[in-house]
Amino acid sequence: MSKRVAILISGGGSNMVSLVKDMRGDHPARPVLVLANDPNAGGLEKARALGVPTATVDHKPYGKDRAAFEGALQDTLMAAQPDIICLAGFMRILTPEFTRKWEGRMINIHPSLLPKYKGLHTHARALEAGDATHGCSVHEVIAELDGGPILGQAKIPVNADDTPDSLAARLLPFEHQLYPQVLRRYAAGDRTPLLING
Ligand code: GRF
Repeated sequence: MSKRVAILISGGGSNMVSLVKDMRGDHPARPVLVLANDPNAGGLEKARALGVPTATVDHKPYGKDRAAFEGALQDTLMAAQPDIICLAGFMRILTPEFTRKWEGRMINIHPSLLPKYKGLHTHARALEAGDATHGCSVHEVIAELDGGPILGQAKIPVNADDTPDSLAARLLPFEHQLYPQVLRRYAAGDRTPLLING
């Protein structure tokens, strides 16, 4: 029986597209929902074009009431009955109450070589630090932001003339390579970390 995967997005959803396109054939999982916290997220149309059901839970009407937003998120997710949740460019911080509900069944891709640079502006921080290598990580989601067990990483060299934008652009294709490979393993119950050297 295929694992049911819900993918949470906030924007263009390029990582979501990579995951959906890979979940075919002998893949142990299938996408059942793409959920955005922004009704204008470009990824919603991409998901519809790929035949994946979509939903929106707009966070804006909830203001600072994270619990109410997450309650609506949970209701929408429960209707889809996912076995796994993939955060893919999802830009809302989730509370420990929510992450605890899905611990062991929720993963995320973060654009840094965790545990370095948790949080935002990872490319600029790697450049400011003068790092020779940068990369992305797929990890299990726990209460601590970007803190869970690492399931895979892709590493790329930092070029002398890199800017945050050029670094992000060179890294994104490796995100699209790493995340689907990690999800295949995770859906099959394999949590052996995967390393890709770019
Ligand atoms: C990616 O760099 C991802 O690592 C970060 O958000 C960016 C955009 O992701 N979380 P996507 O194109 O919306 O998948």
